[in-house]
Parts: sequence; structure tokens; C-alpha cells
Amino acid sequence: MTSIEARDLATKLLWAHPLRLQHVEAVAKLAKELAIHYGINPEKAMVAAYLHDATKYLSPEETSRYLQKEVVPDHLIPEFVHAYSAAGLAQDQGVKDPEILNAIRYHTSGRPQMAMLEKIVFLADYAEETRGFDNLKVRQVAFENLDEAIILTLQEILSFLASRGKPIDRSSQATLESYLSLRNGGNS
Ligand SMILES: [Fe+2]
Ligand SMILES: [Fe+2]
Repeated sequence: MTSIEARDLATKLLWAHPLRLQHVEAVAKLAKELAIHYGINPEKAMVAAYLHDATKYLSPEETSRYLQKEVVPDHLIPEFVHAYSAAGLAQDQGVKDPEILNAIRYHTSGRPQMAMLEKIVFLADYAEETRGFDNLKVRQVAFENLDEAIILTLQEILSFLASRGKPIDRSSQATLESYLSLRNGGNS
């Protein structure tokens, strides 16, 4: 699947949600910039970016169809399920590249030991310029040090959720802990 095809599919599935589509375009733009900056394939970054939220508004029936081949963690909070159904959609569309599939699958929670493409899509999702919150710092740090930007992103997300009394996904916490430990040389 090319990034143009991925963009067409996202546009088709998200036409009734213009703000989401705007977000998806902005994620693709930032993911492409980061990919070029770090010397990885921008086309792959864009395919993942265009598809990452494509299943967000599907019915429960359609969602469970796309989840058939996915292994969804038991503890996953409902808001994160769309990442797995989007990976299912991508496979349905013939995407086989595990890096693209993982970048889609882990775009909400991240995970320890992410590949470069996963890190880029995870960060682009949070740090794209049309988000309604102040993410400039993360956007800048993302071009300097991906792992530091991941730590910053997860710290911001988790403290925001905690301040609102909202549920925190266990995978996000595990991702943060693993990148903090990496920063400390694996000693914490
Ligand atoms: Fe998402
Ligand atoms: Fe997103």
C-alpha cells in the first residue's frame, strides 16, 4: 500500500470527522519530517500515520472484524482499542511490513524497545501542530532525541490523566518506566 492509497482510505473512513482528518494529515506531515530527519523511509512513516486512527469511528461489529487477527492485551483501556483495529485494517489492505503494523498498533501506548518507525509515529501523534494543547516542546525535543521526547510525552499524558482522575493504561506506564530505565543506563 502506498501513502497515497493510505491517505485515500483514511479520507474515506474519516470524512464525517474533519477534525480527526486534519489531525491525521498533521501526523503524516510530522512523521514524514521526522523520518527524513532520522534517515528512515518517509513513505512507511506516512502509510502508518494515515492509517493510525482510520478505524476510530467504526461500529463495534466492524471493529471486532478487524481485531480478529490481533492480540489485544486484556487490560487495554477502550480508548486504545482503535490502534489494534487499525493494524487489523492495514493487514486487511495487504500491509505486511511489521514495522508499519507495529507503528500503528502501538501509537497510543508506545511500548518498550520501539523501532524507530514506531517512535516516530507515536511522537507525531502527540506532537503534531494542530493538537489543541501546548506540545511545542515535545515537537522540538523529538528532532533532538526521540527517547527523551517519548519520556516527556508519556509524563505529560499520564499526569494529565491523573489530574482528571481518568484511567491510565498499564502499557503506557510500562513504556515510560522502560525509557526512564534506559536513560539511567538500565539501573532503575
Ligand atoms: Fe489514535
Ligand atoms: Fe491520532
